[in-house]
Amino acid sequence: MNILLKLIKVFPPELSHTIALNSLKILYFLNLIHLFFPKPKTQKVSLFGMDLANKLGIAAGLDKNGDFIDPLGALGFGFIEVGTITPLAQKGNPKPRIFRIFNENAIINRLGFNNKGVDHLVQKLKKRKFSGVVGVNIGANKESTGQDRINDYLSCFRKVHEFCDYITVNISSPNTPNLRDLHQSDNLIDLLNAIEGEIKKVNFVKPIFLKISPDESRESLEFIIQAVDESGFSGLIATNTTINKDNLQNSNYKELTGGLSGKPLMNKATKTIIDIKNISPNIGVIGVGGVMSREDFHEKLNSGACLVQIYTGFIIHGPKIVNELLK
Ligand SMILES: Cc1cc2nc3c(=O)[nH]c(=O)nc-3n(C[C@H](O)[C@H](O)[C@H](O)COP(=O)(O)O)c2cc1C
Repeated sequence: MNILLKLIKVFPPELSHTIALNSLKILYFLNLIHLFFPKPKTQKVSLFGMDLANKLGIAAGLDKNGDFIDPLGALGFGFIEVGTITPLAQKGNPKPRIFRIFNENAIINRLGFNNKGVDHLVQKLKKRKFSGVVGVNIGANKESTGQDRINDYLSCFRKVHEFCDYITVNISSPNTPNLRDLHQSDNLIDLLNAIEGEIKKVNFVKPIFLKISPDESRESLEFIIQAVDESGFSGLIATNTTINKDNLQNSNYKELTGGLSGKPLMNKATKTIIDIKNISPNIGVIGVGGVMSREDFHEKLNSGACLVQIYTGFIIHGPKIVNELLK
């Protein structure tokens, strides 16, 4: 299996992603996943009103369209976040748009919410066999601005809310023009108010999170936390990728446009959790950004996160990382 994983990494990033996830799907259908990747022991936990098998989840972006929920679930993740999904299907930015920096355990991506649209995802959610927790991460189409952009979030919310266990409102991708403006005061309040209206309309009682950027100033973070505290939101997911490349050693990549994830993001994302908890000790935080090892996983928890997600670590180390983090 190790040789196969090394072979897959030789292909261009998006092709190797497709090959790896489809290979996992085949193993799942042949009922062979646990032969190669034994399921971790269950370490049940109840949080935000959800019962989870453990505290480790797969972060948004890996399975944008919900095409791989069952195989990922079979690996033993406590929760799976699918998306980011937008109302309409969109192609995303031109390739190349993913850059893997293996010797620094890092990725830079500028995908731009390529996805098959919310209706496709809803079909996948309805058909899933995985009985664990599945969250949906929602966003806006690239062309939408102003009220249309808010309507995109509402439209996704309406379509997915019955078929998932929690929702994440993603305002932090650096690859959709001006999306991060939604961190700013009036824009954020407008978005939160609109979503709260929808929450009340459909009597939504499941958890809902705001996924934030690690590149916000202290002042902006204080504002976001106050707004979330005063809203019906359950907490924050911290963090998305960073646009700051200072922590990268290889200067060839520093000028690339896109969001940096993986090891060079670890300290920055963890510091965001610490800052959040200092500002508002009771706010719920799901920690994500740079987790590569069991030590990193526990560092996120010790910093105040109650759940942890991974993305880049899964790409670099493969499915065996699930057991390594949870053992
Ligand atoms: C290729 C790639 C695509 C991503 N797509 C999304 C996305 O669609 N929505 C989202 O909220 N985060 C997305 N992310 C961010 C991850 O969910 C995560 O927040 C970030 O990568 C930090 O975690 P990591 O260091 O474990 O990768 C993406 C990350 C990568 C590397």
